[in-house]
Amino acid sequence: MGRSHLAIRMRIRRHKVFLLCLLGICVISFLHYYKALHNISLLQELSAPSTHLKSLKIFSDIFWNFPAADFRPQQDFHKHSQLKVNVDSNLILKGPPDKKLHERTFVLRDDPTPFFIHTKSGAVCFREGIDMTASASHHRLLQQHHREIKFKDKAINEVEKVVQCPCRQGWHGPHCGIPTIVYHSNLPSKSKVTPRKVPRRVINAININHEFDLLHTRFHELGDVVDVFLVCESNFTAFGDSRTLLFQQMILNGTFDYIKHKILYVFLDHFPDGGRTDGWIADDYLRTYLTKNGMSRLEGLKADDVFIIDDADEIPVRDGILFLKLYDGWTEPVGIHMRKSLYGFYWRQFGTLNVLSACTAAMLFKVYKGDGIYLRRRSYYSMSGFREYENSTGRILVPWAIGSPVHYAGWHCSWCFKPEGIYYKLISAQNGDFPRWGDYSEKRKMSYIKELIRTGGWFDGSAPEYPPSDPKEHMYAPKYLLDNYEKYRYLLENPYATINVKRNGSSFKGVI
Ligand SMILES: *[C@@H]1O[C@H](CO)[C@@H](O)[C@H](O)[C@H]1NC(C)=O
Ligand SMILES: *[C@@H]1O[C@H](CO)[C@@H](O)[C@H](O)[C@H]1NC(C)=O
Ligand SMILES: *[C@@H]1O[C@H](CO)[C@@H](O)[C@H](O)[C@H]1NC(C)=O
Ligand SMILES: *[C@@H]1O[C@H](CO)[C@@H](O)[C@H](O)[C@H]1NC(C)=O
Repeated sequence: MGRSHLAIRMRIRRHKVFLLCLLGICVISFLHYYKALHNISLLQELSAPSTHLKSLKIFSDIFWNFPAADFRPQQDFHKHSQLKVNVDSNLILKGPPDKKLHERTFVLRDDPTPFFIHTKSGAVCFREGIDMTASASHHRLLQQHHREIKFKDKAINEVEKVVQCPCRQGWHGPHCGIPTIVYHSNLPSKSKVTPRKVPRRVINAININHEFDLLHTRFHELGDVVDVFLVCESNFTAFGDSRTLLFQQMILNGTFDYIKHKILYVFLDHFPDGGRTDGWIADDYLRTYLTKNGMSRLEGLKADDVFIIDDADEIPVRDGILFLKLYDGWTEPVGIHMRKSLYGFYWRQFGTLNVLSACTAAMLFKVYKGDGIYLRRRSYYSMSGFREYENSTGRILVPWAIGSPVHYAGWHCSWCFKPEGIYYKLISAQNGDFPRWGDYSEKRKMSYIKELIRTGGWFDGSAPEYPPSDPKEHMYAPKYLLDNYEKYRYLLENPYATINVKRNGSSFKGVI
């Protein structure tokens, strides 16, 4: 009896030891995981006396944008922009058709827009994110809450961090400046992001062919948060044929007067060697030239400015870009989960397209050699400057993406043209993305193209099944298009569908 009792006890003890060990392993792996997730514990960094300067940098990066914040990176950065100028010298423009437009420089200035307001209770709230009606009724409550905290913790001078703002639906965080697409993203440092005192400047770079409706859409979607659009146009098609400088004509004839003050026109007047035989060379070169020429013509660039490179058919939603502009503490490079559709917004495809499209100017020059093409590739960690740059930021740089597979943070509208536009895209497509459908005369026929639009089919003869979509659904299309429904109806409804069921609210699957 006693013996078996003892045996049982010992077995229990052994089990306990085993469980403790297991628990220990769990804790250790959790800490590892936690550290990786939160890129380095802030407290640990702050308390380490040896890394004083670094701590100050992290502190100011993560908290308010103190003057000291840009101290070191700025210096390094200037060194690099010197380098950049040398690299650029082989990209100097020749024989310009309109001398002024593509030789202008653009001076970046701080955006004075008061994005945040200071409430009487001491809170700093994102103006667009707060519920004004709630703010009035909660005011007294907040004030009281505020006083209590102040009393308890006088030493903390960042009292306003604790005071909550009343958030509207779709906005999160103590300042109500975190949009749902960031709140539900995989950003590891989500809980540590803080509003900046001075917004970052945002640079959006794109190459343009004939996607002018989508260009208007971009300008309306992002016009108030982007500080400068670098727009590159070439007098060569991606195939190497000559093309009219339509965008330049449109800038000069007033089509873009509403946004002209934010456009820096980049003119690519030559075709890269080898671009005709290998179309990918032409494709990459467009982005290289766009970034190098465009960035070299910006004055007053800062290390923490945001650089975003998109294709003309990729339109990020404004709120996500605004978050990058107004907040500190996010990691880079930054991807964007985009809703995918074909020919218009009506042929929605499954899932999202997540394209690495944004980083700081510092990362662009220190890691990506000042060339936007590298940013779009996923292998940033193998770039020679990456480890050094990561070390200089004082954190682990993990890519994250605005949005998620179920939260669209933009739109990728592929081949979204009228049939003539599709025809033009076919014949001007680069020579490398095979099969090159523009080479087949039957695929260039207008009737064939219209049939593709009607059925959502592809040039290879396939007709995928599409999930149902409805213009009323959230993130169906950019606001500007929906606000001008009649004008852009061809992008919002299938123009060749025989029965237009969508008009009265019901959705449909596939082709009727
Ligand atoms: C493009 O413009 C440059 C400079 O004006 C000119 O030298 C070149 O011939 C043009 N190319 C085409 C295809 O028009
Ligand atoms: C401006 O130029 C574009 C391209 O050449 C043309 O299609 C458009 O009609 C012009 N607009 C005006 C108002 O002249
Ligand atoms: C990282 O930065 C610290 C100083 O901030 C420096 O001492 C160290 O050598 C750097 N490590 C690498 C791998 O660059
Ligand atoms: C939808 O539209 C069709 C044709 O315009 C009409 O006959 C039908 O009654 C409408 N259905 C609803 C539910 O409004």
